[in-house]
Amino acid sequence: MKIEEWEKHYAEAYANIRGSLKDIRGVFVAYNSNIDAIKHVSEEEVKKLVGIVGSGPIHEQVINYPREIKDPVDFMARLVISMRDGKAAEVPTYTTDLNDWLMDNLVFDHARMGGQAGIMSNLLANLGLNNIISYVPWLSREQADYFVDSPNLKYPVVEDGKLVLKRPKEAYDPDQKPKVNWIIEYSKGTRVCCAGECFEVPRDNRLIISSRPDWLRIDMDSEIYEKLPQIREGIDGAILAGYQMIREEYSNGTTYRHYVEKAVNVIKSLKACNPDMPIHVEFTSIQNRVIRKAILTDIVKKHVTSLGLDTVEVANALNVLGYEELAYSVISKDEKSVISLYEGAVRLLRELELQVVNIHSLGHFISLVSEDSPVSVEDYREALLFASLLAATQASTGSIDSINDVELGLRVPVYEKGYENLNSLATYLVRQGICTMEDFEDGCVNASGHSLVIIPTKVVKDPVGTVGIGDAISAGTFVAMLTRIMNRGINKCPE
Ligand code: GLC
Repeated sequence: MKIEEWEKHYAEAYANIRGSLKDIRGVFVAYNSNIDAIKHVSEEEVKKLVGIVGSGPIHEQVINYPREIKDPVDFMARLVISMRDGKAAEVPTYTTDLNDWLMDNLVFDHARMGGQAGIMSNLLANLGLNNIISYVPWLSREQADYFVDSPNLKYPVVEDGKLVLKRPKEAYDPDQKPKVNWIIEYSKGTRVCCAGECFEVPRDNRLIISSRPDWLRIDMDSEIYEKLPQIREGIDGAILAGYQMIREEYSNGTTYRHYVEKAVNVIKSLKACNPDMPIHVEFTSIQNRVIRKAILTDIVKKHVTSLGLDTVEVANALNVLGYEELAYSVISKDEKSVISLYEGAVRLLRELELQVVNIHSLGHFISLVSEDSPVSVEDYREALLFASLLAATQASTGSIDSINDVELGLRVPVYEKGYENLNSLATYLVRQGICTMEDFEDGCVNASGHSLVIIPTKVVKDPVGTVGIGDAISAGTFVAMLTRIMNRGINKCPE
């Protein structure tokens, strides 16, 4: 398909989805929201930090690859790795020491809503959806201030045994401390020298230092949990994120199994009257392999309908599921990596028993859709196009304040290179007899047992920031897909 035709599909997708967002009664979103302290680092600043911490120790830790940040050396090692590869990563820290060090040495530029659930809740409320019910187990006064203050964004509380939906500003716990993450953003082309080696950053991206204080629990207040049957009456789907914060073991001896079980109970309750209720889980960078695997095989598998991830996260997921070679090949730089990405997505779809796997890469989005998906591949293509518009808008402006803003995304051109990059996948699929070149170019391929939807995305050359773009893509795909389901009248609980 020619680029102009893609542009036409983009315009249609925008008009269609925009016109039907109001058909969705509501979306439940949980669990993680936090405050992001964002710092864009310059070449000079990185140089200064390398000088303070010392090249030698950093170099040593780069080799050791710390999966937890205990001190400034660990921090610098992960920053150098992330900048060298241009790859996003999120690494936990369990004390406040690093925060103090960063405050002394790097002062942040600005703070904003962070956390996948928080970002997605605000975005969906700003797009004008009827009802966003957002739940975070640690709603502090400071955190409440970062939620969009509008009547369609509500937080559930129980008062005198009754469920009340309030604005976050009226619902926070005054004794709760805020959770603040540091986001270190960097630009393509920045030069970094450490221990005699210099490199240029290949891509705009960021490192996230996720604070994980001792009180942090991915859990639901039992009173709210009891009221889920009432909450689900007002929603047509749920987006769940933040499971990466579950710890293997807690100081009181509880283990991750307890929280995994509770997470599954929440999903079961949400689906109790409608087993087909669309439930999306947003994956992320998860350092702990035990937790990564438990999320996939115990929470996602069998219980949820869709999973959203980026390329590196696909590799990480494959890795813990026992496909090490494939995982390695997904992130390799050779041209076959996109074929491995496809093969990896097929494995995830089958093994985790999903209806759809949504993968976002720079330049193209891919969805692998199973046979039992309630909507067609054309519907999915439309959903991905809508999501790409949100991503382009967010990358251009840093935030989306209303659905009208998305027209800005429409003006961003389709990224030609993104589609060209898919050539090796096209050749492979045609050679395997899975599809014809025409099918592939249309973005919809029906293979045996599943379908493949691919779109070239709109890419902003100099993004204002990168944090939250993946969240915009996943939330956008999910609600766009929900509008299609609503359209077909197939998502109702029995009256
Ligand atoms: C993760 C991080 C959070 C960030 C978000 C962006 O949830 O913990 O700090 O805002 O990702 O997607």
